[in-house]
Amino acid sequence: MEMTPYQLANNTPLTLSPNFILPEEKRPNLSEVLPSDSIPIIDLNDHDIDDGQGPSPLVSKISQACEEYGFFQIINHGVPRELCQKVLAVVTEFFQLPPEERAQYLTKDHSKQVKVFNYYQKYEGIGKVTMWSETFSHPWHPTEDFTYLLPTNPPQYREVFAEYARAIGVLFDRLLSLISRGLGLDKDCLKRRIGEKPGLHTQANYYPACPDPELTMGMPDHNDLGSITVLLQVEGVTGLQVIKDGKWLTVDPVPDAFVINLADQTQVLSNGKFKSVGHRAVTNKLLPRLSLGMFYTPNDDTVIGPIEDLIDEEHPPKYRRYSFKEYMEEFYRQEGKRRRVKEAFELQR
Ligand code: OGA
Ligand code: NI
Repeated sequence: MEMTPYQLANNTPLTLSPNFILPEEKRPNLSEVLPSDSIPIIDLNDHDIDDGQGPSPLVSKISQACEEYGFFQIINHGVPRELCQKVLAVVTEFFQLPPEERAQYLTKDHSKQVKVFNYYQKYEGIGKVTMWSETFSHPWHPTEDFTYLLPTNPPQYREVFAEYARAIGVLFDRLLSLISRGLGLDKDCLKRRIGEKPGLHTQANYYPACPDPELTMGMPDHNDLGSITVLLQVEGVTGLQVIKDGKWLTVDPVPDAFVINLADQTQVLSNGKFKSVGHRAVTNKLLPRLSLGMFYTPNDDTVIGPIEDLIDEEHPPKYRRYSFKEYMEEFYRQEGKRRRVKEAFELQR
């Protein structure tokens, strides 16, 4: 019998039914994960005045992290701790409601604005393997257009989320401008190139405690497909891992920090200088885990390609130009696989 996501999030007694078990060579191999290295932690209060000789210390740290890791954590980011705690609390409450409350959002239709779904991968000879998690996705901006679509249970959900979305909107602007300067560009350049009316949506991922984390995965290895992602994770439970030099590295939750990662469009716009890096979430035997990702994505009509100022004889374009709609079509074509979407837009040399 196929286990439904309701049973998952409800913490009913669990055994790992076969539809969650990965083929042997796809399992997470948790004993091999590096404990020693970690992604950079950047204090946004660091000195941030360009001195005429080069970028500010803050911008230098960010651009180094974007080149080497494609991931970093930020502290002193200006979003109040209480607000982060509040949003994690309402989202957790949503996942702990009786299953019928979430059933109204359950869909496999990816064009739905508000949806609950499960990640899966497809493997030859096995078919579909479901990930040990449940995801709730909805827009986060513009507030007035989407709030009425959001849950009324828990009762504070709409209000708390709208407040969180406003704060993260401000943070996105700041990050886009820092990353733009990190590329040696005008501070508004990146935001301008990602374009008018960006697609702004959030994904809350709930990973119930799992009887055998070695056999399954919470979220499969993937790259984010927008521009940048701002991820908030609960403290005290690990799960997120990123690839560094071919090895998996755990991203420890740092108190009051956000995890920032570059997504595919930033890699393309930067002509490969800044990296969109593969990452995944593993499960935890004892504790459930919650993460909340905020995404910033071009709209379908936006044309993306390496920014002209970054192209010269030594740095020929690595990607062809495309509309984001084309990018998404390629994304859906690769359904069920470990996607390699930006690779399909690489220019051969
Ligand atoms: C994502 C993601 C990781 C996590 O939502 O794209 O990578 O830690 N989440 O849940
Ligand atoms: Ni991701």
